[in-house]
Amino acid sequence: MIKIIDLHKFFGEKAVLQGVNLEIYDGETITIIGGSGCGKTVFLKHLIGLLRTEKGKIYVDEVDITKLTDEKLHEVQKRFGYLFQGGALFDSMNIGENVAFGLKNYNFPQEEIKKRVEFYLSHVGLPGIENLSPAELSGGMKKRVALARAIAYDPKYILYDEPTTGLDPVTTETISDLILYLQTTLKITSVVVTHDIKTACKVSNRIAMLHEGKIVETGTPGQILNSENPIVRQFITGKIEEVSTSKGESVNA
Ligand SMILES: Nc1ncnc2c1ncn2[C@@H]1O[C@H](COP(=O)(O)OP(=O)(O)O)[C@@H](O)[C@H]1O
Ligand SMILES: [Mg+2]
Repeated sequence: MIKIIDLHKFFGEKAVLQGVNLEIYDGETITIIGGSGCGKTVFLKHLIGLLRTEKGKIYVDEVDITKLTDEKLHEVQKRFGYLFQGGALFDSMNIGENVAFGLKNYNFPQEEIKKRVEFYLSHVGLPGIENLSPAELSGGMKKRVALARAIAYDPKYILYDEPTTGLDPVTTETISDLILYLQTTLKITSVVVTHDIKTACKVSNRIAMLHEGKIVETGTPGQILNSENPIVRQFITGKIEEVSTSKGESVNA
């Protein structure tokens, strides 16, 4: 479980996070929604210690990571997979080497690395493409390879930064299906950040809205879509006309 208490982040004078409180339960997929530039990526980077806070606590499995040395933090980071915004691959490496990249930190034997690369590429629906180069893949395929790379060392948690942004509708569906599949088959606790409410509704058990540095509302997709909070309503109606959730909850908007 991850528990975030009163998290603040300043860049110079500018306060980006102003007291975020949130609990992330084991096994769930929770999505943080919010407008562009509201601090979603900054928030996600704190969970894995890529950004450090001046104020607040982040407990990962009972340990406050804001107090850890870099060395101890590195151990905690091994529990996380991270799909970066853009999800870039290394062009100089083939697909197999890209997926194996993170595994090098874990001292797995060569044979085990090969097996894992094979296994996780097939998990994202791209079996046997180890010897292709990134240039030979479409944008959606690259994203799936980046996802295989993020899960190849069996993380307990996976953090997705805008996993469907910039993808066409069909690829967006494929990636959201994969997020659901990974949660149900591999039981990975997933934290997604996106400004795409449709993806949020499809993949999430819970959605939390970040606004002006705080979580202003948390609920199931159905509760968020039917929220009477004007900030949430404005965000949702500004984004889409009509949404149906994959969890079978109806919308009374
Ligand atoms: N390293 C940084 N230094 C200064 N400002 C930053 C840095 N990273 C992010 N910011 C600022 O923090 C705010 C939130 O950014 P971000 O988390 O990337 O937003 P988004 O919700 O779109 O992911 C933005 O105003 C951004 O300019
Ligand atoms: Mg971002």
